Amino acid sequence: MRILITGGSSYLGQHLVPLILKQAAVDLRYSYFQHDPLERSQGRRLDMLDKAAVRQLVMEYSPKVIIHTVGSNRGSGIDAIIRQGTSHIVAAAAAVNARLIHISTDVVFNGLDAPYEEGDEPTPVNEYGRAKAAAELIVANYADHVIIRTSLIYGLRQMDHGTRWMSEALRAKQPVTLFSNQRRNPIWVETLCQACLELADSSYTGLLHVAGGQTMSRADFALRMLDWWGIKERSTLTVGPSVGSHWPLDCELNLGRAGNLLSTPLLGVDEVIQLSSPISGG
Ligand SMILES: NC(=O)c1ccc[n+]([C@@H]2O[C@H](COP(=O)([O-])OP(=O)(O)OC[C@H]3O[C@@H](n4cnc5c(N)ncnc54)[C@H](OP(=O)(O)O)[C@@H]3O)[C@@H](O)[C@H]2O)c1
Repeated sequence: MRILITGGSSYLGQHLVPLILKQAAVDLRYSYFQHDPLERSQGRRLDMLDKAAVRQLVMEYSPKVIIHTVGSNRGSGIDAIIRQGTSHIVAAAAAVNARLIHISTDVVFNGLDAPYEEGDEPTPVNEYGRAKAAAELIVANYADHVIIRTSLIYGLRQMDHGTRWMSEALRAKQPVTLFSNQRRNPIWVETLCQACLELADSSYTGLLHVAGGQTMSRADFALRMLDWWGIKERSTLTVGPSVGSHWPLDCELNLGRAGNLLSTPLLGVDEVIQLSSPISGG
């Protein structure tokens, strides 16, 4: 099976590419934009805003499956990268009849009506959520697609973006507030990668909530991560409710559909830490 990953240089892509390269029956290409931390021969530079370039890469390689990870909330110009980038990859996927797996977010919801099911209407409250909700609509018009709505992505071998920002700020003795009233289902990056691989080879189409099975506050999650990475500096850390934040409060996702469909277990943070701790590993 030929797979193309957009954003092999993203946090998710940096885990997905090596996992897929281990599969004997898979031929892989991945794209990066400004840097390629993986430095593999399968990497190709691609600007998702360049429609012709996106089409050319896809036509040349003719993948059976495209996993579209580009479109996070980091950097500048996120609205265009999410909306236009998605529309470019959908058009290119259609040109070669590729299956499209699109990564979306729990932040398409306003956080006032959790837990959210796949059928619930998006109600975004910030620029990122609005762009991701618009991208979902673009993808949904293409027949052979899966939209994975997921939550905070973390790993225990490479620090996730949020934990890296927090630990750098704490070490520099800058104030960090952890929100006790924003609830999420953090997902282990290994779980998300396995789910992408499973869905690449399945006939399921439509929306799917794929996240970790433990709903927790962002504060509890952040503290678990600081403990795991051994960040002891806490003098500038406070925990409390977010007031007037432009991020939704409770984005708990109902995971029932994915639980029935996937063989990949949707582990919660504490289960992952337990599985990964040196003591449980013997
Ligand atoms: N991280 C999370 O906690 C989280 C939570 C929910 C959903 N998601 C979703 O998961 C996906 C991956 O997120 P992530 O955090 O792993 O991403 P990330 O690490 O922030 O990476 C962003 C990616 O976008 C690429 N990029 C930026 N501008 C581009 C352009 N003009 N053309 C092509 N590529 C461009 C970057 O390439 P270069 O680095 O090479 O420039 C990089 O590969 C996103 O769709 C995001 O919405 C993430």
